[in-house]
Amino acid sequence: MKTIAFCNQKGGVAKTTSTYALASGLAKKKHSVLMIDSDPQENLSQAAGIDLYNIPAATLSDVFKTEKGEPGADINEAVIPISKNLDLIIGGIEFTSADLDYSGVTSREFMLKRALKKLDKTYDYCIIDCSPTLALITQNVLAITDKIVVPMTPEAFATNGANMLFSWISVMSERLNNPDLDVAGILITNCRNTNNANIWLEGIEMLAKEYEIKVYKSIIHQNVAVEESQTLNQSLFEYAPNARATKDYEAFVKEFLKGESK
Ligand SMILES: Nc1ncnc2c1ncn2[C@@H]1O[C@H](COP(=O)(O)OP(=O)(O)OP(=O)(O)O)[C@@H](O)[C@H]1O
Ligand SMILES: [Mg+2]
Repeated sequence: MKTIAFCNQKGGVAKTTSTYALASGLAKKKHSVLMIDSDPQENLSQAAGIDLYNIPAATLSDVFKTEKGEPGADINEAVIPISKNLDLIIGGIEFTSADLDYSGVTSREFMLKRALKKLDKTYDYCIIDCSPTLALITQNVLAITDKIVVPMTPEAFATNGANMLFSWISVMSERLNNPDLDVAGILITNCRNTNNANIWLEGIEMLAKEYEIKVYKSIIHQNVAVEESQTLNQSLFEYAPNARATKDYEAFVKEFLKGESK
C-alpha cells in the first residue's frame, strides 16, 4: 500500500478537496483506495456523504482508546465503504484535543501505524487528509506516509510558513524513523485567472526551485463545481464530470500515476 498525505499547515488551500479528488480518481481507475480523514473538522467525511451527527462506524478516536488502556474499537470496525473501490476511516472530532489526550501514551506518534497494522483489508493506496496543524495527529500521519503532496493556492500569503513546513517534514522524517518520507510535489489549487494569481504562481515556482521540489504541471483552476459538489456530498467526478476543475483533477491523477511508474 502506498500512502500519500495532503499536508500544509496553511488553512483553506484545498487539502480536503484534493484528497477526495485524488482518492476518487484513483478508485475510478480501478485501484482500491482507503481515505483517512485525520482532521477533526471532518470536512472530508462530510464531503463523502457521512452524516457527522450519526457516524455509521467506529472512529480512530474510538480505536485509539486502547492506547490509554481503555476498551477501544477494532480498526476493522472503522472502515466505511463510500463507493466502488473507495473506503473511508474517520479520525473523529475528539482529535481536536489529541495532543493533550494522548500525552501519557508512549511512542504516541505511532498510534496510527499500530492501528493500521491490524487492518484486515489491504489497499493499493491510502490517501490522507491532514488538518491545518503540524501537531500530534499529523505526526502520526507522517509516520505512515510515503509521499506528501503540498497544495498551495496562488493568492496573498501563499508561501508563508512553507520554509517551516519543509524543514519540519525533514525533521519528522528522521524523528519518525521514516527516511523515505518526502514531498512528491506542490499542487497549485483553486487558481484564479488574475494578475495577482500570476504573481503568487511565480512566488511558488521560486520557492519550489529553492527547495528543489517539483510543482505539478496540472493546475487546478477555481471552479464553482467544486463547492457545489461538496454541498451535495458528491465526488467531483460524479457531480460534474465535464467541469473545468474535474478535468484539472483528472489530469493531476494521470500525472500523479505517471510519477508513480517512474
Ligand atoms: N478548485 C476550486 N474551485 C473553487 N473552490 C474551491 C476549489 N478548491 C477548493 N475550493 C473551496 O475552497 C475552500 C477550501 O478548500 P478545502 O476545504 O479543500 O481546503 P483545506 O486546505 O482542506 O482547508 P482546511 O485547512 O480548513 O482543512 C472550500 O470551500 C472549497 O470548496
Ligand atoms: Mg481540510
